[in-house]
Amino acid sequence: MNSLEQLVVSAQADFLAAADAAALENAKAKYLGKTGQITEMMKGLGKLDPEEKKAQGALINAAKVQIEAALTARRDALAEAQLQLRLNAEAIDVSLPGRGRSQGGIHPVMRTWERVEEIFRSIGFDVAAGPEIETDWTNFTALNSPENHPARSMQDTFYVEGNDSTGKPLLLRTHTSPMQVRYARNNKPPIKVIAPGRTYRVDSDATHSPMFHQVEGLWIAEDISFADLKGVYLNFVKAFFETDDLQVRFRPSYFPFTEPSAEIDIAFGSGPLKGRWLEVSGSGQVHPNVVRNFGLDPEKYIGFAFGSGLERLTMLRYGVNDLRLFYEGDLRFLKQFN
Ligand code: FA5
Ligand code: MG
Repeated sequence: MNSLEQLVVSAQADFLAAADAAALENAKAKYLGKTGQITEMMKGLGKLDPEEKKAQGALINAAKVQIEAALTARRDALAEAQLQLRLNAEAIDVSLPGRGRSQGGIHPVMRTWERVEEIFRSIGFDVAAGPEIETDWTNFTALNSPENHPARSMQDTFYVEGNDSTGKPLLLRTHTSPMQVRYARNNKPPIKVIAPGRTYRVDSDATHSPMFHQVEGLWIAEDISFADLKGVYLNFVKAFFETDDLQVRFRPSYFPFTEPSAEIDIAFGSGPLKGRWLEVSGSGQVHPNVVRNFGLDPEKYIGFAFGSGLERLTMLRYGVNDLRLFYEGDLRFLKQFN
């Protein structure tokens, strides 16, 4: 074997031994690179006389063609192997069952929240939101519950660390009623607003949760009476439950911030909760002292307010008899609403 033939054999062996593209490029440099052996031989041709140059040049060229062919073959083989590797790694077993994508859904109480907003918006109520950590003044005092008044114990309260500017402890709002004060002090009458949100009390049984949701309603103008409360609330209830097969009862009650006051109870004529009265709301005509705390003249402005439990409305709508189910996060329960 002459030296050119040996060079071709050694290049073929080096290329075959290259395990990847980088190794192959290194091997290529050894033969075809700027200082590679073939390149050096070509450079040497200049010293030969024309006859020899022609003969030797042809031989070197033939060797170069063979080496290049070996290089290309190895490149293709490596690329093919690489592709096979990827295909194997990404192989899909089409006989496997699909993984599926579990679909989330809206919590039933949130559905009620959205529904209530929609209904009240449709009759011209604004929708407001406010803080869950409240001051003593807004949650109680401005609502005509002076300090040390026994009516405060109607709502067992969660106090939090920190004081307001007057040194009184801050608290988790026990109802959405402080939103009456916040909204009325920042808007001009006529005032027509609902304020849905989270509320907190030291309370826990099948119809009471320590964290629950209320929606406050407030309508203040120069001529809004208890009759308007009845009309608005009855229409709301019928729209919300999409039935006329229910009874609504305004049961006389007491709240410091309304006079007269009533609890609103609902019972259905059929269905799983048939005949069972459930209290859904407190309500009443806004007390003159509260209207004054709104910054308005109680001789001129009058109106009603209500505060309804969103869990209770949801229980009634779907026939749920224990409100704790809403908070246990059991998908078997929650999935039924989506
Ligand atoms: C109030 O909270 C008054 N702020 C309502 C009000 C507003 C009266 C405006 C007058 C004018 P009460 O404590 O009754 O009232 O609560 C109102 C409703 O919230 C109840 O009817 C009930 O539906 C719901 N509720 C009260 N406590 C809980 C609780 N722990 N868990 C779930 N729902 C509750
Ligand atoms: Mg009540």
